[in-house]
Amino acid sequence: MSLNFRPQDYTQWHSPLETVRDFFNGILTTLDWNKSNGNDIIMDIGCGPGGTTKDIILPFFSEVQKIIALDVTPGMINIAKKKNAHPRIEYIVADISEWNTVECWEEKIAKIVSIHCFQWVKYQEKAFQNAYRLLKPSGEAAFFFAMEASFFDVIERLQNDPKWSQYLKDRDNRIPDSHYRKCGASYFQKLLEGFGFEILYCKEEEKIDACSSDETIKNFCSSLCVLEPYIPEEHKEDFKNDIVQELVKINGRTDNGLPCHKGKMLEVIVKKK
Ligand SMILES: C[S@@+](CC[C@H](N)C(=O)[O-])C[C@H]1O[C@@H](n2cnc3c(N)ncnc32)[C@H](O)[C@@H]1O
Repeated sequence: MSLNFRPQDYTQWHSPLETVRDFFNGILTTLDWNKSNGNDIIMDIGCGPGGTTKDIILPFFSEVQKIIALDVTPGMINIAKKKNAHPRIEYIVADISEWNTVECWEEKIAKIVSIHCFQWVKYQEKAFQNAYRLLKPSGEAAFFFAMEASFFDVIERLQNDPKWSQYLKDRDNRIPDSHYRKCGASYFQKLLEGFGFEILYCKEEEKIDACSSDETIKNFCSSLCVLEPYIPEEHKEDFKNDIVQELVKINGRTDNGLPCHKGKMLEVIVKKK
């Protein structure tokens, strides 16, 4: 299901997060994920504009034949094809929760990676099940996503704020159930085991990502705010400033005075039995 993101702004204001680099340099390296076979096909689910795919995932899997990088938002894939093209990356518009958009890779994928995507997937169960079906027997998947996020608290506050609710009331804010229900790692562990996965590693942790300036966090967060398109043009800047103000109210600032995002992240690595 397509999302109201602003791919141009996301691309301009996003830079790969330290916490994501740590995931690859840490546990995935420890598990020898980078020692993949030359014939392997890797899939990146929710690749966005492809920066993470080309700058982090491709160098990590230096040996593999091909990376299929898919995203449900056509604007993201258009940018990925222009800005992050590479002969070993194939960018595709597809929805991981819609089997007919991905079925051509059934049991063909050696490894799946998905970075900061599953918090946006509306039908998460279907998506995990499809990931299972895409993997070869004994294939593995690594999911990194926010179960809870201060960004979602901000969205909820602004949606209910009388200043903005006239535009935002009853709009789908795409806050995941895991945020409201405070599901935790054990919920996802059980869910994944239910589809036949063996859990190789599972860790939930509050992660803090500092941003280089207020301007950066403002534009980055608003590029992912699915409610922003409902705000009239003349009030958009005020709305974006309120996003930063609320984030700082909730998270404070780092010791250097920088704005930051806090979220409860899940890192889970699974194997198809
Ligand atoms: C925050 S971006 C992360 C992009 C990239 N992985 C990165 O690390 O920069 C999340 C991406 O997931 C995509 N997405 C959300 N739901 C999806 C789905 N059901 N199938 C495929 N992609 C999806 C969105 O369109 C968006 O581009």
